[in-house]
Amino acid sequence: MSFYINTIDNMGFEDILMDGETIFNNMEAFNPDYIPPNYNFRDKQMEALAISLRPALRNGRPINSIIVGQCATGKTTAVKIIFEKLEHSSNKLVCAYVNCQMHTTRFGIFSQIHKKIFGYAPPETGVPFSKVYEKIMKHLSDNNQGLIVALDEVNYLLQNQTLNKVFYDILRANEEFEGLRTGIFPIISDIEFRLALDMNVNSVFSPQEIIFPPYSRGEILDILKDRVKEGFYPNVISNDIIEEITDYTLNSEDLRLGINLLRIVGNNAEADAAKVIEQKHLDEAIASNASINLSKIIKNLNNREKQLLQLIAENPDFNKSGELSKEFKKKTNASYSTFIRAIEKLEALRLIDTKYTGKGVRGNSRDINLKFNPNEVCRCIL
Ligand SMILES: Nc1ncnc2c1ncn2[C@@H]1O[C@H](COP(=O)(O)OP(=O)(O)OP(=O)(O)O)[C@@H](O)[C@H]1O
Ligand SMILES: [Mg+2]
Repeated sequence: MSFYINTIDNMGFEDILMDGETIFNNMEAFNPDYIPPNYNFRDKQMEALAISLRPALRNGRPINSIIVGQCATGKTTAVKIIFEKLEHSSNKLVCAYVNCQMHTTRFGIFSQIHKKIFGYAPPETGVPFSKVYEKIMKHLSDNNQGLIVALDEVNYLLQNQTLNKVFYDILRANEEFEGLRTGIFPIISDIEFRLALDMNVNSVFSPQEIIFPPYSRGEILDILKDRVKEGFYPNVISNDIIEEITDYTLNSEDLRLGINLLRIVGNNAEADAAKVIEQKHLDEAIASNASINLSKIIKNLNNREKQLLQLIAENPDFNKSGELSKEFKKKTNASYSTFIRAIEKLEALRLIDTKYTGKGVRGNSRDINLKFNPNEVCRCIL
């Protein structure tokens, strides 16, 4: 008996693992660090980055540039693309990319620069910082190479004096190594980090800003369609579903979420042994995705919408639109049309489900159901 059960179980696993049929043409296209071959809508920013780097190719200093924009506006991708292009065309400049969330110390950051130049990181213990620093700068100086360091997520250096020390180390290297040309590209979502810089760092930093604005709906749609072409076999996903994912992405103000949703709907369809992605696969994906991003979605609601959501979450008995609108009026004094607009927004964001019952004074009464755990929703509102 137990043998029989094991066999069935094993067959189940094998079916899943070995089944050659897939709707994914290139799974990597949905990875978070994937560099898309088509990188559109950022020509102005790419041009500004190229202009910042150009002097360094002619024995000048790169122009320090703060790369600033909300999440998933393409900042990291832009820098990685331009660094790669530059490295293929010139050896006059070393382009080091460091993620400061992962490398938060002075030593850690210079280890990454060391790795970029020499192909390996220095040992973590036993070598003093000054040795690593001098080795890097001497090498650059001897080879007449400039250095540009992209410090991604630079806000992680704000905790202690690391930010100032690292900026100082890089920007004032020419005081010890004459003629050395160095620059920094800090990447950040909020320009205010500059307030944390010491005067003597600021005086050599004097950066320009390269701004990455949020993508419009049309741009998001184009980017997602491109990603679909790269990641899925043809005709696996309908335009309607891509449009719906676009709306969801726009509402959540996070392109990464849209790309992630494409991957999840694909996985859901495969788990269902479906050859095309269907609406139910998107519904499932949004339900699981939305719970991860619930607090972010709620954060972006206006006050009225939050008040209504709270009312729904705190009073499971008010599940009829009529009684809910009365309570909402009592609590906020807002008009009926404000109530309707808020209901529609909550529904569009899939926080609630509504169903017409045909009852009520004008026959337009609706049943309203919260799609999430009410405690979780209240926690996010506070
Ligand atoms: N113009 C674009 N074309 C195609 N894909 C893009 C574009 N812009 C961003 N992406 C994709 O969106 C995702 C986020 O981009 P990226 O990591 O560059 O954003 P970011 O601005 O660095 O975000 P964060 O501030 O959260 O670090 C990546 O998967 C990237 O491939
Ligand atoms: Mg980034």
